[in-house]
Amino acid sequence: MRKLVYYVAVSIDGYIADPSGGFDAFLVDGDHAQVVFGEYADALPTHAHRALGIAPPGTRFDTVLMGWNTLTPALNAGISSPYAHLRQVVASRSPRDVDSNITLTDNPVAMVRSLKREDGLDIWLCGGGSLAGTLLPEIDHLVLKRNPVVFGSGIPLFGRAPYEPRSFTATRTRSFESGVVIEEYASRGTA
Ligand SMILES: NC(=O)c1ccc[n+]([C@@H]2O[C@H](COP(=O)([O-])OP(=O)(O)OC[C@H]3O[C@@H](n4cnc5c(N)ncnc54)[C@H](OP(=O)(O)O)[C@@H]3O)[C@@H](O)[C@H]2O)c1
Repeated sequence: MRKLVYYVAVSIDGYIADPSGGFDAFLVDGDHAQVVFGEYADALPTHAHRALGIAPPGTRFDTVLMGWNTLTPALNAGISSPYAHLRQVVASRSPRDVDSNITLTDNPVAMVRSLKREDGLDIWLCGGGSLAGTLLPEIDHLVLKRNPVVFGSGIPLFGRAPYEPRSFTATRTRSFESGVVIEEYASRGTA
């Protein structure tokens, strides 16, 4: 069955963005980029594929799930369909006017369960923290691009999810000269 994979950049202290939603402190350049631009190129935005002159490989993900606050920066930049090469699903509790390539859902848990029953590649949970907190019981795999920086404050990896410990098995760790460590974990239920 296809898996829900939360693939995300995170600080040492577990933040995915600074308090105002920015992530300039994360490293773009460095030897970890070979993974970002290679193995995970499906998770690059469409405009990045164009800028790099590469085609999305279509081997890792075919669907992306985002919370409304994660789509908003793209909309503010005039990009209405940031991952046009993927099936895009956006969670919101409000009616929203979105690009015809985006599916809105007010029930992301039911949506994920339905997507998992379909055939296809894995489903990328892009973020943000609030949506990831809601979907935590559905996450099969975590891929954390741990950057060598402490934020002190910001948007937590799982938002304000309640204290409910869930066990994961560490399945792979890759350390890079850049200082980025890519950590992978499988949910115990699917390990
Ligand atoms: N480091 C990274 O790799 C990475 C990746 C992705 C995002 N980010 C950053 O994370 C930040 C956004 O994170 P966030 O936690 O503030 O917000 P978010 O999870 O992206 O979006 C929150 C919004 O999503 C909707 N939502 C969430 N849970 C829902 C549910 N159970 N049912 C229906 N709708 C639901 C709601 O939208 P409505 O308010 O419309 O109802 C909610 O206000 C941004 O700054 C983004 O840049 C970082």
